[in-house]
Amino acid sequence: MNITVVCKQIQAQAVDAIVVNLCEDVALANGASAAVDTALGSTDGVPGSGAISRLTALGDFRGRLNEVALIYGNGLIPATRVLVVGLGKSEALSAERVRQASATAIRKARDLGCKRVASVVHGAGIGGMDPRIAARATVDGALTGAYQFREHRSKGDDTQRIAELVLVEHDRAKIDAIKSGVREGEAIATAVNTARRWVNLAPNALNPQVLADEARKQAQHIGLSCEVLGEAEIRQLGMGALLAVSQGSANPPRFVVLDTAPDIGTEPDLLLIGKGVTFDSGGYSIKTAEGMLTMKGDMAGAAAVIAATLALHELKAPRRIVALAPMVENMISGGATRPGDVITTMAGITVEIANTDAEGRLILADAIHYAKRFRPRAIVDIATLTGVSAMAMGEGVAASLISNNDGLCARLLSASESSGERLWRMPLFAEYADKIKSDYADIKNTGGSKGGLGASAYFLKRFVDHSAAGEQSFPPAWAHIDMAGMAFASDTRGTSVRGASGFGVRTLIELALSGER
Ligand code: BES
Ligand code: ZN
Ligand code: ZN
Repeated sequence: MNITVVCKQIQAQAVDAIVVNLCEDVALANGASAAVDTALGSTDGVPGSGAISRLTALGDFRGRLNEVALIYGNGLIPATRVLVVGLGKSEALSAERVRQASATAIRKARDLGCKRVASVVHGAGIGGMDPRIAARATVDGALTGAYQFREHRSKGDDTQRIAELVLVEHDRAKIDAIKSGVREGEAIATAVNTARRWVNLAPNALNPQVLADEARKQAQHIGLSCEVLGEAEIRQLGMGALLAVSQGSANPPRFVVLDTAPDIGTEPDLLLIGKGVTFDSGGYSIKTAEGMLTMKGDMAGAAAVIAATLALHELKAPRRIVALAPMVENMISGGATRPGDVITTMAGITVEIANTDAEGRLILADAIHYAKRFRPRAIVDIATLTGVSAMAMGEGVAASLISNNDGLCARLLSASESSGERLWRMPLFAEYADKIKSDYADIKNTGGSKGGLGASAYFLKRFVDHSAAGEQSFPPAWAHIDMAGMAFASDTRGTSVRGASGFGVRTLIELALSGER
């Protein structure tokens, strides 16, 4: 979808559809929607006499969020169709609502077979939003709402696509801000859709090598520093936990390091870590057939941090950001890890593998220890880590947030508020330490079936704290996002498209772009 910005009147656009909006409680008195309404009037040029006024007067359209009405131009305007999309109550207007409304309208236009669409910048008019934020959200919504995954279809390109989206703004003073917002919206949406694509790809099409190669290719393309460690280097580093998870698979592990400013010498403000299990069978602690079905999405955390870092590099984020993504496949073979095995992590902490299905925390443990060499101010990890998080938060509703630092938590919750990706803070009580006590090793990797969320976070905390030994400014502020149950969307609604969600990408970008250093 090619996106351009013009300083013109929306009702004068000769396209397959023009998109305008209405709030639930704002009368159609002025602005672009009123201009279109007047142009669609039966009595020439009389305000309030047009087809949109008719819709609202009859109660056929109320302006509720994601409501869409289709009107035909009938030769009264150059456009074939008019789509009116609801923004909901004006006082509840937000970037998230703009993204959703934009997505809904664009998808409707796409399904009608429209190729060229012109849209107002939702929220920038009567909504009173900063035009740059409004444009960013309008474009983000359009591009993520129109996302389709066709790569595994034999007829990949038999689908409808919008070729061109023209954003129309009549106020010249807003044009520059809108153009900046469009660039940002494109970068953010591209990142969300990239993460979605990696999650959607079948696990035989996307193994650790493929995901690492994809990351390297895309990083190289935009001049972002990317290092991919192979099995030999991982072994040399002593990443015993990562290797223990990987050893049952025919596909070797990878460890990806992205860095937005490798040469400046200052510590990163933010270090991101994403769980990259390209398929989680559970290993010998095997999952049920049902439980395994969505486990190609067990690399959604890695996808989110890589895609977000690509976007942050493009957006020239003012901070140094490092992203780490340990990538493995958790499989079964004669060489696979057994329940009861004791392994030595990179940190030197020994771990009894009580359950081979609790593999995410193992690969994160080595990544957290590796992160130490960067001396980051803050570490945020994101992972599809525990089924109990999905159970507690509700599938597709929210991710859990667990942190040792209130300030970092507040920044993440605020980023989550702007991104529309829900996070909810859960505790890190000291009592969870008891759950991971082992009779044989320093710790074990599960805390039994009860207390699974706290125990998983406490396991990670051991490695965050271990990094503290002898280092100043340690332990770093650390936050853990458990996005189990959030990797896939079950419905197509607003910006969500059934399938991979791209969850986390917008929040991580928002976090890195906002807040104090
Ligand atoms: N990848 C799973 C967690 C998961 C479950 C993600 C459902 C998305 C949906 C993780 O590796 C896992 O299997 N965790 C175990 C931990 C347990 C053995 C302590 C779980 O949640 O059952
Ligand atoms: Zn598992
Ligand atoms: Zn897993």
